[in-house]
Amino acid sequence: MIHTRICDLFGIAHPIVQAGMAREYTSAELVAAVSNAGGLGILGCLGRPAEEAVAEIRRIRELTTRPFGVNFVVHLLDEQTFAACLEARVPVFSFFRGQPEQAIARAHAASARTIYQVTTLEEAGHALDAGTDALVAQGTEAGGHQGAIPLMSLLPAVVALAGPRPVLAAGGIVDGPTLAAALCLGASGALMGTRFLATAEAPASAAHKQAILRVQPGDTVSSGIPDILWGEAWPGVQARALRNRLVERWLGCADELRAVRADVLAAVHRAEAAGDPDEMILLAGAGAAQIHRILPAAEVVQTVIHDAAHLLLHWGMRIENELR
Ligand SMILES: Cc1cc2nc3c(=O)[nH]c(=O)nc-3n(C[C@H](O)[C@H](O)[C@H](O)COP(=O)(O)O)c2cc1C
Repeated sequence: MIHTRICDLFGIAHPIVQAGMAREYTSAELVAAVSNAGGLGILGCLGRPAEEAVAEIRRIRELTTRPFGVNFVVHLLDEQTFAACLEARVPVFSFFRGQPEQAIARAHAASARTIYQVTTLEEAGHALDAGTDALVAQGTEAGGHQGAIPLMSLLPAVVALAGPRPVLAAGGIVDGPTLAAALCLGASGALMGTRFLATAEAPASAAHKQAILRVQPGDTVSSGIPDILWGEAWPGVQARALRNRLVERWLGCADELRAVRADVLAAVHRAEAAGDPDEMILLAGAGAAQIHRILPAAEVVQTVIHDAAHLLLHWGMRIENELR
């Protein structure tokens, strides 16, 4: 129904890519459900040991014959997991952060296609010079780690720089209207994370999924709090999460949080075990405000495509009628 360059590049029916979110948020079931629906499912490999990645890839291949991908955060890349995915001949590798040259060259040497997610024009130029097949322009609306530039200003500039290479839009895309808007700004499709977190197949906790359904505009915030707690360094980006009690308590108090990190982290683990959404870190994008139901992943793909196509077909007529 909507066919773009990204469909030809990856051999998929619809220009919808499920973000390769870290280990606890993606699984073979989610990836296969998205790929079977005609999108591209991506298995997150951040924090995933090699043996587990190999087992998940085997399971994906049992569940689907369609293309799928794996995701690596390059500055935190686990060499064994990366080597195992290259060996397994995964058709698409998606990358974020770090230095693109080696990661892209090694994926290409294993006959894979590559996507690089960028948060600035400078990163886009770097990934294009390193030979990426496609880019993701990720706006500050995105869930998880993200930069400071809103999608509406970053996307058209990345599209202009990329020339013939397709660019996916990421950050706040959750439904037909947001996909249609991204296509109008020159994107060849969308990469969606938060919308796929709130699906039946996503392995995210029930507390996380339910909390996404309650989000109102303004209920997410980008901060360094998740990385301080998790003890990870993500130079140049922060993480967007729900503005719950835990986050409100520590906003603007980075040094104080560092001083009591171990105690707070232990309390977060207790809250996770108890399913208490007020005291956990719940990564989510600003688009969560438009997510009202947990759906099967295939229904997300079908509905987003159907609604975007409908909107793009009828928008012109609607404007014409309003002007009459
Ligand atoms: C829970 C969560 C975990 C994420 N983990 C990763 C990751 O491991 N690697 C990565 O490249 N991006 C990761 N992202 C960011 C996504 O790639 C993507 O940019 C983002 O989800 C798009 O915005 P949206 O959530 O509004 O759809 C994560 C996002 C979320 C919400």
